[in-house]
Amino acid sequence: MAGSRNKGNPGLMGWIDDRFPATALWEDHLAKYYAPRNFNFWYFFGSLALLALVNQIVTGIWLTMSYNPSAEGAFASVEYIMRDVEYGWLLRYLHSTGASAFFVVVYLHMFRGMMYGSYQKPRELVWLFGMTIYLALMAEAFMGYLLPWGQMSYWGAQVIVSLFGAIPVIGEDLQQWIRGDYLISGITLNRFFALHVIALPIVILGLVVLHIIALHEVGSNNPDGVDIKEKKDENGVPLDGIPFHPYYTVKDIVGVVVFLFVFCFVVFFFPEGGGYFLEKPNFEPANPLKTPEHIAPVWYFTPFYAILRAITFPLFGLDAKFWGVVAMGAAIAILFVLPWLDRSPVRSMRYKGWYSKTALLIFAVCFVILGILGAIPATPGRTLVAQICTALYFAYFILMPWYTSKEKTSPVPERVTG
Ligand code: HEM
Repeated sequence: MAGSRNKGNPGLMGWIDDRFPATALWEDHLAKYYAPRNFNFWYFFGSLALLALVNQIVTGIWLTMSYNPSAEGAFASVEYIMRDVEYGWLLRYLHSTGASAFFVVVYLHMFRGMMYGSYQKPRELVWLFGMTIYLALMAEAFMGYLLPWGQMSYWGAQVIVSLFGAIPVIGEDLQQWIRGDYLISGITLNRFFALHVIALPIVILGLVVLHIIALHEVGSNNPDGVDIKEKKDENGVPLDGIPFHPYYTVKDIVGVVVFLFVFCFVVFFFPEGGGYFLEKPNFEPANPLKTPEHIAPVWYFTPFYAILRAITFPLFGLDAKFWGVVAMGAAIAILFVLPWLDRSPVRSMRYKGWYSKTALLIFAVCFVILGILGAIPATPGRTLVAQICTALYFAYFILMPWYTSKEKTSPVPERVTG
């Protein structure tokens, strides 16, 4: 019976519900969580992000069973996992390719939010929790990459940690504090291991719970950006809402099957992703005396790396490296305030004007170009392109209050379409 939440009923479920809100949780988050009926494929990526997270945690636990977190043993233990541990190669590839898959899914998930204005009131906290997940995920991936103790693990960490050295006054000490040593060493590896396998996963899991609680408090947005709670039937059920379970649990299985098909294809036939998922220098053990010819982060960091390198000039007495770090930090930080930059009276790109549409398109193209430029060596011509793309990246955000309030929007329908 609705409302009683099965309390005081006979049977095992009644006994549990008297002591723990099992039925209430099931109803609030699945069977009676009314989601808009017009979700399209862009709405697969939330549940796929959950799947990617579970995959990383499960494969990570098993990798930890055979991995040795020491400068002397790490590289060899990864080789041991690849050659001797039963299905170790599969576990490792599911984890290393899984990291890239996770970022593909999360980038598409974020882009969906930007397209449909899902960050707008009342979903600002959903967005902020999401952005905090994104930050934690970047830290998680960065620390994980040091663990195989290959050449790129070592030198990538060297480059990124040295960025903290660009901060005036405290930079030097901060770098040393992060490494726990004068250079990246076994001590750094040990602490990155601790943060990668326990601290950050806990943070990410906690944030995902907060993300979903916040979303379910206000309800999901949809491709029309129409608020389904405004039109309800006599029982208080939104006219355009359908219960998440079974409708979307079943629909999400379609997304899961397509995802697994592509993911497994990559894992089994293309696990290194042509050097983009596992970089070639990482098949050589870390050597502090030999710098690789070309150091580049993994693809999911390259747009921000390109922004860092695009700043080539000193300013106000501070060097280019400092401003590069500032630009890179600002490129991520500005995403946090997105909900307050968008002044549009409508949510979805379907009803926004052509200023917003063009701006989002230019933003997406620049992000991809920066991603490509960050993966290849810089030349004067490429640096110029990176500078133009960096300027456009920031213009998208800085000009947003202006273009979203100036442009002509189309009328939003009363009810969801499709
Ligand atoms: C571990 C990573 C993440 C997981 C597991 C996750 C999970 C989910 C799930 C299950 C949903 C509901 C289904 C859906 O709307 O697709 C959702 C919605 C949402 N997520 Fe995430 N998310 C993650 C990261 C992020 C990030 C990085 C952002 C943005 C910065 C973000 C922003 C949003 C927004 C705005 C919504 C509401 C979308 C709407 O109602 O239109 N999420 N998330």
